[in-house]
Amino acid sequence: MRIAVVGTGYVGLVTGTCLAETGNEVVCVDINEKKVEMMKAGKLPIYEPGLEQLFHRNIAQDRLKFTSNLAEGIQDAKIIFLALPTPPGGDGAADLSYVLGAAGDIAKLLTDYKVIVTKSTVPVGTADKVTAVMQQHAAPGIEYAVVSNPEFLREGVAVEDFMKPDRVVVGTTDERARKLMAELYGPYVRQGNPVIFMDERSSELTKYAANSFLATKISFMNEIANLCELVGADVDMVRRGIGADDRIGKRFLFAGIGYGGSCFPKDVQALAKSAEENRYDFKILNSVMEVNEIQKTVLTEKVKKYFKGDLAGKHFALWGLAFKPETDDIREAPALYIIDALIEAGATVSAFDPEGMANVKAMLGDKITYAENQYDVLKDADALLIVTEWSLFRTPDFDKVESLLKAKVIFDGRNLYDLDKMVDCGFYYNSIGRKEVK
Ligand code: UDX
Repeated sequence: MRIAVVGTGYVGLVTGTCLAETGNEVVCVDINEKKVEMMKAGKLPIYEPGLEQLFHRNIAQDRLKFTSNLAEGIQDAKIIFLALPTPPGGDGAADLSYVLGAAGDIAKLLTDYKVIVTKSTVPVGTADKVTAVMQQHAAPGIEYAVVSNPEFLREGVAVEDFMKPDRVVVGTTDERARKLMAELYGPYVRQGNPVIFMDERSSELTKYAANSFLATKISFMNEIANLCELVGADVDMVRRGIGADDRIGKRFLFAGIGYGGSCFPKDVQALAKSAEENRYDFKILNSVMEVNEIQKTVLTEKVKKYFKGDLAGKHFALWGLAFKPETDDIREAPALYIIDALIEAGATVSAFDPEGMANVKAMLGDKITYAENQYDVLKDADALLIVTEWSLFRTPDFDKVESLLKAKVIFDGRNLYDLDKMVDCGFYYNSIGRKEVK
């Protein structure tokens, strides 16, 4: 099938590349000509494990193409995906100007029936808004369907999530669109996972509900962790104890330093906003956001307490900057809040992250220093702070860590180490929701 993907951000590129992988002919459209040239030259503008190989293979086989010309991109396409940014506007609601702008432009170019799919996470009612804009601009008599098809891609495993999804959600009441979407996703759900068809509004809400529910799990566990510290319990034990109940599930129960990334903060906020607009007081969601804001400060509060409120002249080493492992994404990363708080308190910061340093450098410049590797960063630091749970931080050479740090002090925002191990190593070790090792 011939497909167009408008917008070559993270979601657009993963979607386009993975759709080409099963034999579709995909044209990715982006207004940024420089980016298009770069991709034509075989350069992938984002880091995502496994994507590069698919990207090159499909370009080589002529199934994946790029253009900055919308008309050329959507010509002959049966399905056009809109994977455009929907940043939070000033009032917290998602800004739809990119999506609606593209819908209008596409409508003007339509000559035959096409399915327009909103892939971006958009508020309930957006499919109707897109339809209205298209009606304004399409030539009379031209038929099209506007479909909602939210993505559930996790950064770091996005290719796997796309190729073998737990489920695909498609919101449409148009029979032709339903058939085309079922055909398109057929190869991805061979293992019997469902393509769940529903109306557009339910589909749009499903995306927000999924992310908000997951964020709720995290904030809930973060509060349990805070309580654990007060009552002398261990959040890892509580997690295992409750996770064994199938109704709760093992996953997404890890306490830490708050959720970040491009999705959870934005989506929870947008759902709360949408509830507010509908005069519904979504109490749980407001608490989820409040808890997350507080949780971002927990690690630095521990540091401040340890140093008796005086961080002036202290130097800290950070392991991790990205909002989670296997990505270079630093959007809403807890590391940024931690760096700000430490610097504001008069400390200096040095960091190492396997993928995230270039992005932080672009944002913060020389506000902090950057190290070549996980050990160099430790030199002369008063303490190590673990911010992102990259695998290479899980089994460090503790003798080396000890020899480089000024003092044997670790604050761990990701609970990477066994408490007994830290007792054996003789470190001061303060993690989240567990006993302090002195
Ligand atoms: C998320 C959703 O998982 C995905 O389905 C959606 O399409 C986009 O948003 P992503 O933002 O890539 O994906 O990251 P995810 O792995 O879900 O983690 C989100 C945040 O939650 C990270 O900051 C992570 O550190 C945090 N988290 C996750 C926890 O604090 N505890 C957990 O148990 C799990």
